[in-house]
Amino acid sequence: MLESKLGVKFDHYLAEPLDTWLSAGLHDFAVPEAAGSSARVFLFKNTRSVSSLNKDLAFKVMRYDKRSYAAPLFKQELLIMQGLEAKPGLTPMVGSGFLKTIEQTRWPVEQAPLTKSLELESSGLQINGELLTFDSSETDTMLAEFDQRLNADWLPFLVFERRWEDNLYLLCDAGYTRGAFLKNLTIQQVLKIAVQICELLQYAHSAGAVYRDHKLLHYYWNDLRQQVIMIDWNIGLWSPGKLTPETIQFDLLQFSSRALHHLFTGRQAPGSVAVGPNRPEDIENAPRRYKASYPYDVQKRLNQEEMHFLERALNGDFMTADQMADALKQLLSKRL
Ligand SMILES: Nc1ncnc2c1ncn2[C@@H]1O[C@H](COP(=O)(O)OP(=O)(O)O)[C@@H](O)[C@H]1O
Ligand SMILES: [Mg+2]
Repeated sequence: MLESKLGVKFDHYLAEPLDTWLSAGLHDFAVPEAAGSSARVFLFKNTRSVSSLNKDLAFKVMRYDKRSYAAPLFKQELLIMQGLEAKPGLTPMVGSGFLKTIEQTRWPVEQAPLTKSLELESSGLQINGELLTFDSSETDTMLAEFDQRLNADWLPFLVFERRWEDNLYLLCDAGYTRGAFLKNLTIQQVLKIAVQICELLQYAHSAGAVYRDHKLLHYYWNDLRQQVIMIDWNIGLWSPGKLTPETIQFDLLQFSSRALHHLFTGRQAPGSVAVGPNRPEDIENAPRRYKASYPYDVQKRLNQEEMHFLERALNGDFMTADQMADALKQLLSKRL
């Protein structure tokens, strides 16, 4: 555990917000639905870092006014990040800890830093306080101290590698792209992304985690490596050895109605949990079956077999992520 000070005068400080905007194709967009219900996320600067190649980090800190709601979510994310091994598609948690802000702290306005003045108002530069930081091998201690520190006005935080890749919501959404989503990714890429997500889910399920919050804005696309990368496990559940087949099936159904339908058609399935700050109960109470919807511009994109696959997925026909990956690989082989 490391004790330090947070603030622009010290080695560590918070800079621009990362939860009010997203980028794709080198363009930045204000995206209000990126904000989460339990946390704020800022760029975490370390002026002591020895190399200029040292990557910027993302600092995900509990909302001070949502502590009782957010506490179980933060704990699940810590458990899952501790339990899963490093993999190319997972954003690594590099540390965690507690922040005690000074008394007169005012949290910045929640807005996209798209101009210099907006950046000044929305950045975390004014946030000063004390930091207790645990590295990723000390997550047990972090969890052991969690409740006591929270009661003593410490705000838990997690530090992640910062995602810089294109956000898949911006690449694939019919609205944000004004219909250009059909050109942003080929159907081969769409199928490949879906296979990669299924492989990550299969790994998570066998380790003991379900993800559940499958909105496309939690997924990024590294074009150079042709690799999908996910963030935000706090609506997930860590239950090694105790995940039921129904829990796994439901995770795949949520994936299908949100990310998969969005990737295939530019929109989530009708009736699915809306993109936005989702609460665990929004997902728990979501329908158990969905119908696919193919707007006119999409009908030419998908073939009969792909539509049939999507419909089966929305019906909850897949019990394991492996089964789903196999079906997707077959579709992909016919497109090569
Ligand atoms: N590692 C990261 N790199 C870049 N941006 C991030 C990272 N983690 C979170 N964000 C941004 O912050 C937003 C909220 O973070 P998220 O982890 O989804 O929090 P919540 O659990 O509150 O939904 C994300 O939608 C994303 O825009
Ligand atoms: Mg989120």
